[in-house]
Amino acid sequence: MNHQSAARAVTAVPFTDLSAMAGEVWPEIEQEYLACLLDGAYIGGPAVTAFERKWADYCGADQAVGLASGTDALELCLTALGVGAGDEVVVPANTFIATAAAVVRAGATPRFADVSDDTLLMTSRTLAEAITPRTRAVIIVHLYGQMPDMTDLVAAAKQAGIAVIEDAAQAHGAEWAGRRAGSFGAAACFSFYPAKNLGAFGDAGAVVTSRPELADQIRSLANHGRSRGHSHYEHDRIGTNSRLDALQAILLSGKLARLDAWTELRIALAAQYRKLLASYEVSGTGLKLTATAPLARHVNHLFVVRVSRRDSVRAELAKRGIQTGVHYPVPCHKQPPLRRFAEHPLPVAEQAAGEILSLPIFPHMTDCQVDYVCESLTEALRAAAIRSETANVQ
Ligand SMILES: Cc1ncc(COP(=O)(O)O)c(C=O)c1O
Repeated sequence: MNHQSAARAVTAVPFTDLSAMAGEVWPEIEQEYLACLLDGAYIGGPAVTAFERKWADYCGADQAVGLASGTDALELCLTALGVGAGDEVVVPANTFIATAAAVVRAGATPRFADVSDDTLLMTSRTLAEAITPRTRAVIIVHLYGQMPDMTDLVAAAKQAGIAVIEDAAQAHGAEWAGRRAGSFGAAACFSFYPAKNLGAFGDAGAVVTSRPELADQIRSLANHGRSRGHSHYEHDRIGTNSRLDALQAILLSGKLARLDAWTELRIALAAQYRKLLASYEVSGTGLKLTATAPLARHVNHLFVVRVSRRDSVRAELAKRGIQTGVHYPVPCHKQPPLRRFAEHPLPVAEQAAGEILSLPIFPHMTDCQVDYVCESLTEALRAAAIRSETANVQ
């Protein structure tokens, strides 16, 4: 059967398939998982230390601190860097709310930067526009799995004398000019939310850093303010409870051994999408692909296109059994709890929020499923265009 006829046999495509990934690693981790369950040491311990070592090495950083979520990673990182009341932190407007919410929870003020119309990521120009004398740090978000131009951004941050934090929640294994996400900033924050490229059986996260004092502070903050070498009930600072569980660490170590293979599958699927949609993009159908920079290793956590008449295109795809997402329908500075921090319109992020559409992509997706999504998308775009023409002449 060729691709096209095989695509005809496909009738539904999920947005992702977490059970396929879990099923692949489960036979390898089952014994260790059960041993841990029976042992009863569920928080921290050797499985967490082993994963932290492997994760730091993978990211090209000296240390990793396992935490309860990516959101905590961002907040604790800011606090450990001494960012708080009276300080400003630049964040892109196009990101998940956790990036900006962490700044507010740390007691600081988010300042929103617009994004590039091509990549939908922050640029050194949009960063520079958002910096004020009160700015202490920038959170650079490697959204969708792609790092922005880190050479330019790190240089701009250095020139402004502000700290760089990477929000790499969607970018496990992403690279800029051959350097891994996690090796550029003072620290980088990862999420292991189940749907991420490296996902746990629940919430989990980590900070990686090559600054030992920062790692120590974050570890202490995440463990009720306890410090290494002190007794269980001695607390040096007010902290919180944000530790990584041993069962999650066992799964994450198991999945980490497959991460590169899964990422290569994502990259191949994205290349197939690009090839099939490229000819359609130029023919005035209202479809625009998100650009990939030549120096970026884009790990394709999400495959995001821009379409006009998104709601009707989405509805048409849903009718064909294709699940899609929107990341994100409301830019951060327009979210009710963050509006008070918005100072200017951010035209690119605002325009894009009404057009972006995330198509299914996951390591176990088949070529035929990609064909089916592309065929369905082009038909949905055509149908939406005809409907709007008809509406215009009535
Ligand atoms: C860009 C970004 N930042 C931060 C987070 C927060 O991570 P978590 O869900 O693990 O708290 C996420 C994940 O949802 C994210 O996508």
